[in-house]
Amino acid sequence: MKKAWWKESVVYQIYPISFKDSDGDGIGDLRGVISKLDYLQYLGVNVIWLCPIYKSPGHDNGYDISDYCAIKEQFGTMEDFDELLAEAHKRDMKIMMDLVLNHTSDEHPWFLESRSSKDNPKRDYYIWRKGKNGLYPNNWESYFSGSVWEYDAKTDEFYMHLYAKQQPDLNWENEAMVEELYKMIRWWLAKGVDGFRFDAIAHIVKAVGLPDADNPDNLPVVQAYQFFSNLDKVHDMLKKLNEQVLFEFDIMTVGETSGLGPEQALDYVGEDRNELDMVFQFEHMYLDAGSSGTGKWDIRSWTLLELKKIMSSWQTVLHGRGWNANYLSNHDQPRPVSRFGNDGEYREESAKMLATFMHMLQGTPYIYQGEEIGMTNVVFDSIDDYRDVETLNYYEQSRLRGQPEEVTMNAIHKKSRDNARTPMQWDDGPNAGFTEGEPWIKVNKNYKDVNVKQALADPNSIFHYYRKLISIRKQCEAIVYGDYTLLLPLDTEIYAFVRSVEHEKLLVILNFFDKTPVFDWPEDLRTDEKKLMISNYEPAEGEDVYHLTLRPYEARVYLLEGDCVKP
Ligand code: NOJ
Repeated sequence: MKKAWWKESVVYQIYPISFKDSDGDGIGDLRGVISKLDYLQYLGVNVIWLCPIYKSPGHDNGYDISDYCAIKEQFGTMEDFDELLAEAHKRDMKIMMDLVLNHTSDEHPWFLESRSSKDNPKRDYYIWRKGKNGLYPNNWESYFSGSVWEYDAKTDEFYMHLYAKQQPDLNWENEAMVEELYKMIRWWLAKGVDGFRFDAIAHIVKAVGLPDADNPDNLPVVQAYQFFSNLDKVHDMLKKLNEQVLFEFDIMTVGETSGLGPEQALDYVGEDRNELDMVFQFEHMYLDAGSSGTGKWDIRSWTLLELKKIMSSWQTVLHGRGWNANYLSNHDQPRPVSRFGNDGEYREESAKMLATFMHMLQGTPYIYQGEEIGMTNVVFDSIDDYRDVETLNYYEQSRLRGQPEEVTMNAIHKKSRDNARTPMQWDDGPNAGFTEGEPWIKVNKNYKDVNVKQALADPNSIFHYYRKLISIRKQCEAIVYGDYTLLLPLDTEIYAFVRSVEHEKLLVILNFFDKTPVFDWPEDLRTDEKKLMISNYEPAEGEDVYHLTLRPYEARVYLLEGDCVKP
C-alpha cells in the first residue's frame, strides 16, 4: 500500500457560519476559526476542511458562490483567510478548501451575463433549454424538491439547477467555462491551500439529450439520478483537471459522489486513475431512508447487519487499490450520536463507541465540528426556527401534497440538515459562547451540559477520548495501513473486526446497542500478549475476557501483536 500524508491524517470539518463568531453579528467567521486553531491542534487533527467561505448570497450557506476569488463579507477578508492559512501551517495543520464546481450562485457575474441574452458569449456557460409543450424541458426532480428547471422570462427559456433555483448548474461541455474554473483553482493553489473537497462532483456531466426519466405514475417530476450521476464523462473531466492543474501539487482531494458502490468508486480513486484521492460514499447514509419517492425524508430503521455489509465491502474492495474517506456526519447529515447511537442515557458511551468505529477503520477519518463533544440533533417545534433551504422546500412541498404536519415535522426532526448546523457549543454561557450577538440559528438547548469548556475539564469526556484515538492512530501502522477482517458477520449487535499488518494486529470490539451481548473471543486470536489500547469503560472486576459481557455501547480495542510504535 502506497504511503501518503493524507492517508495518515485526521480531518476536521468546519462549517464556518456555525463555528465561532468573532464580531457579534451572529454569524461564524474566519477570525473565529483562527481563534480556535489551538483547540484543534490540541485535539490532534492534521487537516481542516473548510466549508465554502467564498462570496455568496447564502441561499445554501455558501454552496452558492458568486465570486470564487473573494471572501464573503460576513466571514471576513482575504487577509483573514491568508492569516488563517499561515496560522494553520504554523501549527502543522493543512487547509482543504470546499470547491463547488457543479453550479454557481445565480448572482455570479457569469450567470448574470448568461441570462442576459441568448447570444451572450457566456450563454452556454450554463444549461439552457426551451420548454416542451409549455412545460419543463424534462421531468427531472431537483435535490431540493420540485423541478430542476427554472423559467426565465427574459429569454423565454429554462435553466437547469440540480439544487436550489439560486444555484444554476454550470455547463461542463463548454471549454471556455472549464478553462475559467482551472484558472481559479490555480489561483487558490498558488496561495498554498492543501487540498480540495469537490462538492457534487459526480453531477458535473449530464446525459446527452437530457432525456425524460421513466414516469409510470405521470408525476410532474421524478428522481432521475441515473441521468446526472457518475457518468463516464465525469472521469474524463477529472483526468483533465489533474493533467492541466492539480498534478504538480502535493494536495489531497476528496469528491462528493452519491449513488455509487465501492467497485464503481475505484473509477475515481483507483491508484492508477489520477482522478481523486478519496470519495465520500453515501451507502451508509441511506440505511435509514425508505424507498418511497421522498428519499431521505422517508424514515425507516437501520440495522447493524446492513451497516456491516456496506462498510465491510468498502473496506475490502478498496484495500490496496484505493482509499476510504470514513465519516458518520457532516453538515448535511443528522448528528451521529442521535442517529446511530443514543443521545439520551448513553450519549457519552455511544459517542465514544462510534468514534472508535470511525477511527479504527481503514481510511481517513473525518470529524465534523461538535462531534468531538457529542453534540446531538435539535428539535425545533416550529418550522420558523429552521433555516436550511432543503428543509424549507421539503416542508412546503409536503404541505402542498397534503401530508400531515406531524409527519413532516417528525421527518425534519430526524433528518434536517439543521441538526448539524446549530452553533458550536463552546461553553455554558449565553448562546453557548458562539456569539455575543443573536445567532443566525438557535443554539441547541442542551448546551449547558454539552459544551467544549466542560469537555476540556473532564478527563473522561468524549473530547479526550477522541484525542486518545487520534494519538493511537498516529502510532499504529495497522490502523492506517492494515487490512480489515470482519468477525461475526451475522451478529446483530456486535461489530467486531481485526486490523493487521505484518508486525501488528488489533482487535476492535463494538457493542452497537444498549443491550449486553457476550463477545466470544475467537480461539485463534487469544493471546497472553493482548493489551487494551482504549475503551469507553474500565474493564469490569473479575471479568472473563474471552467470554466478555459487553456493557451498553461498549467499545474496546486490543493490541494482539506488535507494539504500536511508529517505525
Ligand atoms: C453538497 C453540499 O454538501 C450541500 O451542503 C449542498 O447543499 C449541495 N452539495 C449543493 O452544493
